[in-house]
Amino acid sequence: MHMIQKYVLILLIASFAAISIYFFQNKNYHQDNLSTKVENQEGIPGGHFALTTHNGEIYNSESDKNLKIIYFGFTFCPDVCPTTLINMANTLEELKDIKNEITPLFISVDPERDNLEIISEYVSAFHPNIIGLTGSVENIEKVAADWKVYYKKEVNEDMPDNYTINHLDIIFIANKNNNFVDFVRPNTPYKDIANKLREILKR
Ligand code: NI
Repeated sequence: MHMIQKYVLILLIASFAAISIYFFQNKNYHQDNLSTKVENQEGIPGGHFALTTHNGEIYNSESDKNLKIIYFGFTFCPDVCPTTLINMANTLEELKDIKNEITPLFISVDPERDNLEIISEYVSAFHPNIIGLTGSVENIEKVAADWKVYYKKEVNEDMPDNYTINHLDIIFIANKNNNFVDFVRPNTPYKDIANKLREILKR
């Protein structure tokens, strides 16, 4: 091998190593590319919304300057939603001392079945602070689109009223401007969620 070729080869290997190290060290850059575009729903979630609370009032995120934890689900959900809401309730118990700084929201992706009475009974069964939210089908579609939440009705031909809805199962954390801050994966221990929220509030 000629001297010049050897030199080029060494240079190539060195640059490759340097690039690899750079990428390795920047692995956490942009929170792992925003946790793979927030678990592959793609795009950055966020945005204000005005929806009806389980008490029949209007909740407008623009006038709520708290940190928000937002979960999209539906009350007929057999297992995923209850598990996550129990986790949310435990988190809220853990954060009792700062409860006035956090707004927990449950947004129904099933506005056709989840009327105020049903949502009201449902959220209160988990925690008194959780605000259940619903709206028109179009409103919910808009909020879900803004928050990059995929959900899809799965109709059972034999029992058309017994449909289920596949949906994203993560808890969003939003700041006072209702911008996305972070998210919580399913089955994250509630103490970890509580610690994360305390950290975010300190920023
Ligand atoms: Ni669910």
